[in-house]
Amino acid sequence: MKLHPICCLLLQLIFELSSCSHFRAIHGSSLELPCLSIQTGFPVETIIWTFNGKNISTQSLGSATIKKDGLYLSISPVTAASEGEYVCLAKATNVEMIRTFNITVDASIGFTIKVIQGTTIYLPCHFLSTTQVKANALWFKETGDGMRSPLNLGDDSTDVYKRLEQLYPMDHDQTIILRNTIKEDAGLYHCESTEGEKLSYVYVIVEVPPTPPPYSCDNFTTAWEPCRNENSRTGEPLLQESIADFSMKLYSYVRESQPYSNLLFSPISINGVLSHLLLGARGDTRRAIERALAVPHDFYCIHFHLKELREKLAGSLQMASQIFYNPQMNLSESFNNQSIQFYEAAPTRLLETSEGSTQMINSWVANKTNNKIKQVFDSVSPNTQLILINAVSFSGQWKFEFDKKPKKGFFTKLNGDMVKVPILHHQKYLTVLSFIVRLKAQVARFALTGDSSLYILLPRSNTITELQQLELKMTDTAMREMIEEMKTGSPQHAEVTLPQIKLDVQPDMRILIKKLGLSSLFEGANLCGLYTKEKLVLDDARHRAFLMLTEWGVEAGAVTTVSFSRTYSTFSALRPFIMLLWNDHANVPLFIGRVTEP
Ligand SMILES: *[C@@H]1O[C@H](CO)[C@@H](O)[C@H](O)[C@H]1NC(C)=O
Ligand SMILES: *[C@@H]1O[C@H](CO)[C@@H](O)[C@H](O)[C@H]1NC(C)=O
Ligand SMILES: *[C@@H]1O[C@H](CO)[C@@H](O)[C@H](O)[C@H]1NC(C)=O
Ligand SMILES: *[C@@H]1O[C@H](CO)[C@@H](O)[C@H](O)[C@H]1NC(C)=O
Ligand SMILES: *[C@@H]1O[C@H](CO)[C@@H](O)[C@H](O)[C@H]1NC(C)=O
Ligand SMILES: *[C@@H]1O[C@H](CO)[C@@H](O)[C@H](O)[C@H]1NC(C)=O
Repeated sequence: MKLHPICCLLLQLIFELSSCSHFRAIHGSSLELPCLSIQTGFPVETIIWTFNGKNISTQSLGSATIKKDGLYLSISPVTAASEGEYVCLAKATNVEMIRTFNITVDASIGFTIKVIQGTTIYLPCHFLSTTQVKANALWFKETGDGMRSPLNLGDDSTDVYKRLEQLYPMDHDQTIILRNTIKEDAGLYHCESTEGEKLSYVYVIVEVPPTPPPYSCDNFTTAWEPCRNENSRTGEPLLQESIADFSMKLYSYVRESQPYSNLLFSPISINGVLSHLLLGARGDTRRAIERALAVPHDFYCIHFHLKELREKLAGSLQMASQIFYNPQMNLSESFNNQSIQFYEAAPTRLLETSEGSTQMINSWVANKTNNKIKQVFDSVSPNTQLILINAVSFSGQWKFEFDKKPKKGFFTKLNGDMVKVPILHHQKYLTVLSFIVRLKAQVARFALTGDSSLYILLPRSNTITELQQLELKMTDTAMREMIEEMKTGSPQHAEVTLPQIKLDVQPDMRILIKKLGLSSLFEGANLCGLYTKEKLVLDDARHRAFLMLTEWGVEAGAVTTVSFSRTYSTFSALRPFIMLLWNDHANVPLFIGRVTEP
């Protein structure tokens, strides 16, 4: 019996004695150094880690922390000070084992980008995820004589098509875009924090293009492929999964760019408008949109299944997308026909005057949203080539009504301040309540008419940290698991308190489209399926979502209140929470939002 661990020990010794591991680590990354390669059965008594001969005590030294009684040493973040020799000394009865790691650190991340003149490139630069972004990073370009000059990324330029632009101001991602590269752009670029910390450097090489091929749609004239397999059982679940995947991806982009405020958007609607555009996209643009939507390349039936999905949702969600285009253009006939077939939308010519076009679009939106949203545009430029627009509105009534008597309560905001708000309250509301372990959140499900449910996810406290931790865990798999768990849970009576809210939010679609990997739409997209004469540039994309929680609209007698004498659970959402409006019939998210201030 004793033989086995000793065997391991010997193997370990032989292996370890022959090894001194060298690592090159990137500044800002994380490293985990294992003390023992084989852990099971090794009767270790003590483990001592040293760094450049200095004892790393039981806690930590610099950014190095001992984990699991010394089995691992974690270095996070790696900085220049982390460079050196790390030694792990493991002692067992009569045996000592030594493992050495030699770490060198690259001061910043370097890239070389070789580009053909005239193309658009991205110069990457990121802050550590652990730092707080207080100011944008600074970019410099070396000017040959050892000098360097700052790049002008400010908004002072009136040029709409700025060549150089910061993609996500005040974000951890400080990547900049350089459009239409010219020979003079070649050289070495540096990205640094305002404190002078080096974040990245990019060496740009600009090459002269071979003879550029003239713009032509010659190879892209075919219509969108027909869906040959309308009855396939795999199409619908595939679409549902990709929508959930797309939705949670989108939520992570939205929450990153607005970490504190109220949020609301309708992933199903943004998905719908991009799918509509996909109908006319070809080549690289088509692939990029497919990737953004998380659908496979050959999923011809996407438009057919989306149409079915919209029909399933029609009971509660009004959703319409439309394409407006310049009167000087003629869209291709097949696109026009397929738009009508799949999206019930005949692409519409803008009018000759800006006022006329503005009014036309706004009244289209008002009509499609039952007058919930009346204005999206203040004006439409006569130069506009293409406008892609989508509006949604949802109305669902509580299956079980709240108290009719108006009440007020105190909502605790992220900063601890309390505000008095009108609330929805019921002493014995019938709801499914659960603590979802994976999310570490209390979740309540509120049934609505039209086969939808509102899920409210309460982080454990009202701090920003808890809220962000919950948001980080909200992947598509976690959400689908949560929905399954909540669907099968049995309803119970609980004392429920919700704030009455009215959200009317316009998330920045331009940023979202870029984050989805679709910047190329703004540069010049291959929309040959839609228009063949010249390259099109997406001018504008907007999304506006509106949601209200009120005491309204519950049919009398919907609740059978059977009163037992016991203490009821409580669910009080009088502090920041996340909400998910889910359609149970179509099994897709309709709205995702965050309420930090009702
Ligand atoms: C490191 O600390 C351990 C006890 O924590 C001690 O036994 C050992 O001698 C120290 N080693 C050095 C090199 O200081
Ligand atoms: C670790 O690497 C540095 C730099 O390459 C070298 O000077 C030093 O001797 C190395 N130490 C060991 C133990 O290999
Ligand atoms: C179209 O495709 C053919 C064959 O792949 C290629 O030779 C030709 O250059 C393409 N035409 C254009 C305009 O891209
Ligand atoms: C658009 O189509 C109409 C009718 O088919 C035609 O008269 C007009 O010249 C076309 N316009 C362009 C710019 O091709
Ligand atoms: C578009 O629809 C019209 C009317 O239904 C039809 O006549 C025409 O052939 C269709 N065109 C294409 C390219 O499918
Ligand atoms: C929208 O337009 C259609 C057709 O013109 C009309 O029947 C409908 O009543 C309108 N809806 C609203 C809410 O204005």
